[in-house]
Amino acid sequence: MGVEDADSEARFITSWVCKVPPGKMALTGDVEIEGVFQHLEEILSRRRKREPLQLILGRWEFFGRDFFLEPGVLVPRQETEVLLEVSLQRLRVFGEKKLTGLDVGSGSGVICVTLLAEMDNLQMLAVDVAEKAVQVTEKNARHYGLSNRLRIYRGDFRVTAGWENMVFDFIVANPPYLSKEELVTAMPEVRDHEPQEALVGGETGTEHIEDLVWFSGDRLVPGGFLFFEFGYDQKERVVEIIEGDGRFEKCEIIRDLARIPRVAIARKRRTAGGETG
Ligand SMILES: C[S@@+](CC[C@H](N)C(=O)[O-])C[C@H]1O[C@@H](n2cnc3c(N)ncnc32)[C@H](O)[C@@H]1O
Repeated sequence: MGVEDADSEARFITSWVCKVPPGKMALTGDVEIEGVFQHLEEILSRRRKREPLQLILGRWEFFGRDFFLEPGVLVPRQETEVLLEVSLQRLRVFGEKKLTGLDVGSGSGVICVTLLAEMDNLQMLAVDVAEKAVQVTEKNARHYGLSNRLRIYRGDFRVTAGWENMVFDFIVANPPYLSKEELVTAMPEVRDHEPQEALVGGETGTEHIEDLVWFSGDRLVPGGFLFFEFGYDQKERVVEIIEGDGRFEKCEIIRDLARIPRVAIARKRRTAGGETG
């Protein structure tokens, strides 16, 4: 398997080491080349080993903001921007009302940090099993001055250690959703360089989602929202899990830019008292 879209990546790397924006390379005459070749060689030698470019550069853009990345966290995916758009659209309906949210499996923090940066009325808790994810989420939240509205815990979300009694107006997640078999056939950048616990959702891929839905049924306030991303072929199973749970209204499925069903929205049934919205 060769590197996907190698030409445009080569152009991107060249502009990165020359510190010239990609769109301006053709218009730029003289470029300061002190150290450029050494930097280029460092990047290329890691890239030859199929390390993802985003991890080599140590930062990447997501939803219009730059995020620090380090080996040990998932590289943010473009599909996840759909999850952000959908979540923001639904949460903005509540206007200025103070809302408390949970980001399950925060990774680099792209989801919780973006939501907090976009909406002043949110407080969030982020949880991840990986120590590196907790560190990188903290770093990104600090960079954007959002630490005062974010608490971060390391651990399995199902255990809730340290936040046993909390309930949420919304829960958002980009859960691991590959099957074990899919990981074996994934591109080397993914298979060999991204953490398995960030990718594999169980034997069939949807086991983690089953736990997330069950957990959210307990932890959402009546009328609270669960938003999550899922795999390209998991729509039927996702609908079955949510509707089979019985605590949610009919679930909604949103497609990504490639028209692939990608995001689920499940609203917890409203019962008398204490509801959101
Ligand atoms: C697909 S990644 C998503 C990362 C980030 N939210 C994003 O969209 O780029 C899933 C994340 O869930 C974390 N994770 C996996 N199992 C978990 C569990 N049982 N409890 C908490 N976090 C978990 C992984 O460490 C990983 O950071």
